Amino acid sequence: MWNIDLTYREKLQPTFDRLYEKKALLHEARPLPQIALQKIQDALSVEWTYNSNSIEGNTLTLQETQLVLHEGITIKGKSLREHFEVKNHELALNHLYTLSNQNYQPNASDILDLHRYVLRSIEEDYAGRLRTGGVRISGANFIPPNARKVPDLLDELIEFVVENPLQLNAIELATVFHHKFVWIHPFFEGNGRTVRLVMNLLLLKVGFTPAIVLSTDRQKYYTALNAANKGNYFKLSLLMAQALERTMNIYTGSLPDNGMGFMEISSLVEEEKLPYGQEYISLLARQGKIDAYKEGRNWLTTKAAVFEYIKNRERKRVL
Ligand SMILES: Nc1ncnc2c1ncn2[C@@H]1O[C@H](COP(=O)(O)OP(=O)(O)O)[C@@H](O)[C@H]1O
Ligand SMILES: [Mg+2]
Repeated sequence: MWNIDLTYREKLQPTFDRLYEKKALLHEARPLPQIALQKIQDALSVEWTYNSNSIEGNTLTLQETQLVLHEGITIKGKSLREHFEVKNHELALNHLYTLSNQNYQPNASDILDLHRYVLRSIEEDYAGRLRTGGVRISGANFIPPNARKVPDLLDELIEFVVENPLQLNAIELATVFHHKFVWIHPFFEGNGRTVRLVMNLLLLKVGFTPAIVLSTDRQKYYTALNAANKGNYFKLSLLMAQALERTMNIYTGSLPDNGMGFMEISSLVEEEKLPYGQEYISLLARQGKIDAYKEGRNWLTTKAAVFEYIKNRERKRVL
């Protein structure tokens, strides 16, 4: 199970460093303005619920998800099941936030609890229970292990995360956990939503913000998982780091005196004198080479991030 090619590390180290710097910045700024924080957390919870459910086929929009959660509205034409999926995810999130503290150690019983929330009133027979038979993942390049092996594999994975024998940083650890978990596919249903909760518990407990896999990145996400099935973690790590960077930027942007100046790349090249054009900067953003994040279809970055990249490139040339 532990086929992990670590060569991706070199390419992603600058991104990891930047994320840890942002975490330190947030930490130093604590206590953060409470009202601002609560607003961000509420908005991100809706996003998290919407995106995670949407990846798994739920057809409610972000706005409809918000209405169901905050206004208690029922959306015409949408099934009871879809409504339950939204409310269940919110309950799971609330539970997750009560677990996330520095001393938290992941364990099977909490994972089953989160899964129970996810499938509550939907698949009562399977909620909070490991699978007892075979499963297939459509479009996947492998078949998940035999159900008899699931309990031991899950324990092994939890031990791996607790002991961290490869000395992975928290972002890598969350990524490897995410992949190995869906590779084991411990449940008949609800694996995706559950893993995106538990992975974020691992990030939150060390002071990061949640990494929200966007529904618009679904195809990329599956491609990255297929690469990870072969031991190659570059794409999945990049996707997770970028998802994390988006929410880290939202939080750091809320700090007093910290506009950070993130702008859509098209506007940035119009307003600032930059040595590169929009296409090249977009490419650097997608590849994770500059501090950037995606909002909807657009990539945002800062003038400082572009100049930081130029500076580092020059330094490399000199060496
Ligand atoms: N090619 C793949 N390799 C490994 N895991 C995959 C692959 N494709 C999808 N998955 C994982 O399986 C999840 C879907 O499993 P499922 O039990 O249906 O979750 P849910 O019920 O939450 O819909 C996806 O969200 C993804 O994490
Ligand atoms: Mg499913």
